[in-house]
Amino acid sequence: MVELCGQFVSGIEFEGHVVARISESGNLSNSLCEGESFAVRSVRIAGAQRNIKREHVERDLGRLILRDSRGTRVDLDAPDKTFLAILSPDKVMLGLVTNTREKGAISRRRPRKRPFFHPSTMQPKLARCMVNLARPRPGEVLLDPFCGIGGHLIEAGLMGCRVIGVDVNRRMLRGASRNLAYFGVNPEGLLLGDARSLSFSKIDSIATDPPYGRCASTAGSTPKELLTSFLSDVRNVLKLGSFICLAAAKETGVEDIGRDLGFKVVENYDIYVHRSLTRRLVVLRWG
Ligand SMILES: C[S@@+](CC[C@H](N)C(=O)[O-])C[C@H]1O[C@@H](n2cnc3c(N)ncnc32)[C@H](O)[C@@H]1O
Repeated sequence: MVELCGQFVSGIEFEGHVVARISESGNLSNSLCEGESFAVRSVRIAGAQRNIKREHVERDLGRLILRDSRGTRVDLDAPDKTFLAILSPDKVMLGLVTNTREKGAISRRRPRKRPFFHPSTMQPKLARCMVNLARPRPGEVLLDPFCGIGGHLIEAGLMGCRVIGVDVNRRMLRGASRNLAYFGVNPEGLLLGDARSLSFSKIDSIATDPPYGRCASTAGSTPKELLTSFLSDVRNVLKLGSFICLAAAKETGVEDIGRDLGFKVVENYDIYVHRSLTRRLVVLRWG
């Protein structure tokens, strides 16, 4: 979910509204090599430091960096390195950008842009957030036992997890298969089965959105019954110390079900969807 990250270079000191110096200008020589081009950008956090004009900070810093580093030049269109000045409420800092999230990548994964659509699927941003909360690491196995058309599996697969999906509905699985292939995710398995009787063991993490009995069917049982038998069974499937992030309608009391079955409730978050649905994201730890 991070848009951009980088390495701290230095604090920035001002005289009036003009950048006077970079506190640790020694760090600059580690950031830029002779012959490299750079640009300085800036960002203001929550309206901070309104007395300082961003374009002035960028210009002043550009001059200071040029002065303090040998053989470098400014290139605003295609710089080798980008510095970012962060205007935060209590200080202004300079960093060197090391990674950025590809622009528009999340919106390209929106449900309507996938080859197979179903209204029960989750938006990619929330699905990614749930996968993050399940704390998987690249190379580990993440399971979605109610995988539907694969929203969570796409996100986990793109993070480098080995993904397995299970669903009771063959048509949904076919949709998941097309969607995963479209985003270049090659699952370890997409299996027809019931999340209440899984035959796996040593799964590293689970991110899942079981049906609430509205868009996606709970096939005759109440959402509470479904969650209870799923969470009861899944205890044999998970490695000790692993995490599940799951979503449920708030009134289902999913965290109480988890607690009664011996899970540790790590965190939960409510998301208002509409008048008759508030989603609760719950993170449970096994062992
Ligand atoms: C809300 S959808 C999942 C959406 C998916 N995570 C996504 O973002 O694309 C819930 C899915 O659970 C499946 N399902 C319902 N009962 C099930 C069960 N007992 N075992 C496995 N899957 C089940 C439904 O067929 C449906 O596809």
